[in-house]
Amino acid sequence: MQQVYLGTTGLAVSELCLGTMTFGGAADRDTSRAIVERFRAAGGTFFDTADVYTGGRSETILGELLGDDRDDVVIATKAFGAMGEGPNDRSNSRRHLVRAVDESLRRLDTDWIDLYQLHRWDPTTPIDETLSTLEDLVRSGKVLHVGVSNWLGWQIERGVRLQEAAGYDRFVALQPQYSLVERRIELETLPAAAANGMGVLAWSPLAAGFLTGKYERGQSAEGQGRFAEWVDGMPEQGWDTLDAVRDAAKSLDAEPAAVAISWLLAKPDVIPIVGATRPDQLDATLAACDLDLDGETVRVLDDVSAPDRGYPYDFGAVEGRPPRD
Ligand SMILES: NC(=O)c1ccc[n+]([C@@H]2O[C@H](COP(=O)([O-])OP(=O)(O)OC[C@H]3O[C@@H](n4cnc5c(N)ncnc54)[C@H](OP(=O)(O)O)[C@@H]3O)[C@@H](O)[C@H]2O)c1
Repeated sequence: MQQVYLGTTGLAVSELCLGTMTFGGAADRDTSRAIVERFRAAGGTFFDTADVYTGGRSETILGELLGDDRDDVVIATKAFGAMGEGPNDRSNSRRHLVRAVDESLRRLDTDWIDLYQLHRWDPTTPIDETLSTLEDLVRSGKVLHVGVSNWLGWQIERGVRLQEAAGYDRFVALQPQYSLVERRIELETLPAAAANGMGVLAWSPLAAGFLTGKYERGQSAEGQGRFAEWVDGMPEQGWDTLDAVRDAAKSLDAEPAAVAISWLLAKPDVIPIVGATRPDQLDATLAACDLDLDGETVRVLDDVSAPDRGYPYDFGAVEGRPPRD
């Protein structure tokens, strides 16, 4: 696995990030240990978690498992979600974030968080309050970089412009859902992240396992795991995309999961956050690092999975002038 930089920062991370949402839930401690060992053995150094994952157990288990390796790895975590019953036990408010970061540091058993992400946009807290709090956390050394997750394009733009005007450290990364069956962020959110030099951490790059090819069109996924309802609601375009992924995998003698992850790896500044409930599931996703998709395969996958570009996105071209990225 190669090392790359997170966006325009000097922070070197592995080209795949390991998502730990399953730790302490679908993956018990021993299984989590085997997943981390498999990822580390392949050269992985980048880990994503959140305070809300499995009620804090994900952070605790990750901290325990990384142990003495802390200096050799990069940890991203998040705050916003409810960690208690009260109105101040959630949100991007100063009161909540100041406490949340200390709780995450304690659970992760570390003195610093490499990337601290706002898990969601918070319409209940003035953004200036959130941004000045994040700046204080950076200045205190508890947090090295800040990022956002699930934000819209205008929210990113507003946040970064305000940080710039105040002389604060800017958001360096965006964590959106992004895969061959969820590309709507390409319309608005990704251009905002790119314009601000932010790295992109793609969550659910396999669409929670759908792109491994383990589900079949026309057959209910009921009783087949955590995402059955979501798979049963998959639009036809998703199944057509899966067919194209399977075709590409067959011709490349690869697993569909490797093709799906490789498609993301080919995009500039995108780091897939791969998840697993068992260590052997990583075999297919890690193989993506050795798979280079040719231009024609990428074009076929791009075409079949393209999001609908209605108004005003279809007003982009200027007739009589060459396109400019
Ligand atoms: N920021 C956010 O709001 C947000 C939201 C969600 C996730 N995330 C982050 O993204 C990470 C990854 O999300 P994700 O788990 O949805 O990612 P994913 O890589 O799309 O899906 C991983 C899941 O797919 C299944 N799978 C993976 N490889 C497989 C294989 N070879 N064969 C069969 N099944 C396989 C497993 O689920 P089963 O075995 O249960 O089917 C596994 O847990 C999370 O851990 C978290 O760090 C962030």
